[in-house]
Amino acid sequence: MCGIVGYIGNKNACEVILNGLNKLEYRGYDSSGIALNIDGKIEVYKYKGRIKNLEDRILSLDLNSGCGIGHTRWATHGAPSDRNAHPHTNMDGTIALVHNGIIENFVALKEWLINEHGVEFRSETDTEVIAHLIDHFYNGDLLDAVYKAVGKMKGAYALGVVHCDEPGKIIAVRKDSPLIVGIGKDENFIASDIPALLKYTKDVYLINNDEFVMLTKDEIKIFNENRQEIKREVFHVTWDADAAEKEGFDHFMLKEIYEQPKGIDITLNRRINEKGAINLDGITITKEDLDKINRIYIVACGTAYHAGLIGKYAIEKFAKIPVEVEVASEFRYREPFIDDTTLFIAISQSGETSDTLAALREAKNKGARILTIVNVVGSSVARESDDVFYTWAGPEIAVASTKAFTTQLISVYLIALYMAEVRGTIEKEYYDLVLRELKALPDKVEKILKNAEPVKEIAEIQHEKQHAFFIGRGVDVTVALEASLKLKEISYINSFAIPAGELKHGPIALIEDGTFLTAIATQDHLYDKMLSNIQEVKARGAYVIGVAKESNKLIEHQADKVIYIPDCIDEVTPILSIVPLQLLAYYIAVMRGCDVDKPKNLAKSVTVE
Ligand code: M6R
Repeated sequence: MCGIVGYIGNKNACEVILNGLNKLEYRGYDSSGIALNIDGKIEVYKYKGRIKNLEDRILSLDLNSGCGIGHTRWATHGAPSDRNAHPHTNMDGTIALVHNGIIENFVALKEWLINEHGVEFRSETDTEVIAHLIDHFYNGDLLDAVYKAVGKMKGAYALGVVHCDEPGKIIAVRKDSPLIVGIGKDENFIASDIPALLKYTKDVYLINNDEFVMLTKDEIKIFNENRQEIKREVFHVTWDADAAEKEGFDHFMLKEIYEQPKGIDITLNRRINEKGAINLDGITITKEDLDKINRIYIVACGTAYHAGLIGKYAIEKFAKIPVEVEVASEFRYREPFIDDTTLFIAISQSGETSDTLAALREAKNKGARILTIVNVVGSSVARESDDVFYTWAGPEIAVASTKAFTTQLISVYLIALYMAEVRGTIEKEYYDLVLRELKALPDKVEKILKNAEPVKEIAEIQHEKQHAFFIGRGVDVTVALEASLKLKEISYINSFAIPAGELKHGPIALIEDGTFLTAIATQDHLYDKMLSNIQEVKARGAYVIGVAKESNKLIEHQADKVIYIPDCIDEVTPILSIVPLQLLAYYIAVMRGCDVDKPKNLAKSVTVE
């Protein structure tokens, strides 16, 4: 969601900020803008639409400034428009600010500013109140005014603020929305995420909640909420700018699908030592800790939630501990049974998802131990957890999550096996078998990716359909859910997933001539039942795509087309069967002319509720 970039230094701030905003495009946005401090005046340019729109209007103006802030907005309060785009200013335009988050008490603040101080608002946003609040408290010291304004605000915010009378300064503050500070030589930066800064620096400070930052081109000072200066260690980013480029692929999504063998290999093999034992680097849970645990909650959103469902399957099967899986937006508002015998596992690619973070805090406050599976190093979810297991998928830019998902699956299997071994709930032979099968996955995924042609052909036949169904049994239900989410979010096809056994309880009423239905049938013990389900939908006219192991050929007699995955044990099929279905969603979306990497209405990182 919204992206922030700020620059102060000797370079052309406009160019640096536009470059950074382009790198944050993946977060999702509908307008963009920039404010520059030029000769003691704040100049603001902001427009609805793509960043290109902003660039087309300002690049020819030759704006010369060494200090500014920029923003990509994902509309929450007020429709996407030039007026509602950030930066927002106070009435006389001396202060400008960019904001990521939501100010929950903005209505009361707005009324107070209008009624008591005669402020005239120019937008429908919650953000504009902050500019007027800072103005209200400004007395020659921007940092002081921001402290006082923040004291009145409730909600989530990462802010970048400039004042025309303090041209060599940017003030930033963070609460529940991501913010990092980039460290340069004779220049410094703020941003919502690392890709915005990689062209200029790999050294950053990770800013925590309720911390304030004052940047000049020569120094960075971080303060806590009591205005005491604090020291922060430099965080050195290990991946380079290329990792966030398309490298010859048409889309980030396709590149990321093809990066899966590598992501799976790294996530897995670096956690297994020469003796074949699992070593969960960031996790310190001992046998005594596990013996105390009565209940596990896995909480996440979207694709990460689907990884959680497989996590339940693996932990219950191998480690014999009951697990509940819940979407974070529901978990945080009910009263789950949590105490110090609860293990709470959060799964998140970005580590900044607002609902997941709130659920984590809720569980932590009630005494649960927090373990997270997360991709972004140093993210909020990672920092607030007791134990962290990084997925090492590398940066995922496309809104549709692919390589994060398969590495999350590897992570839950490893954690489940580790728990099982520590608790003594798994036979050595079975443990070795599962591990061997996991190790074979990178090559098997590679094999699927090298044989994408049949998937492309299916996309050719089906891409004009308006509806799609995915069915499966056992772990294949989760694959159906994930494949369906992938398809709907990037192709806008109305798609849904159901356990095959539920067909007769309602959904089969929707099957008619030509219905596009994918039947995932990878589980040996459920294979015959799936074949019967396929017959039932075929009898009602469905066009069926089967997904099966390559030695299970009987399905060819039932389905119209079959996608085969390499043979493997039933337990690990989701990591293979999801791959061709990611490709199917991708090709269908491309054939429908959709903006695959930036689907409409969606953001990569959902940092507001
Ligand atoms: O960053 P997170 O893993 O916490 O994000 C969770 C969901 O927003 C995310 O998986 C979303 O569902 C993706 N667009 C799915 O492709």
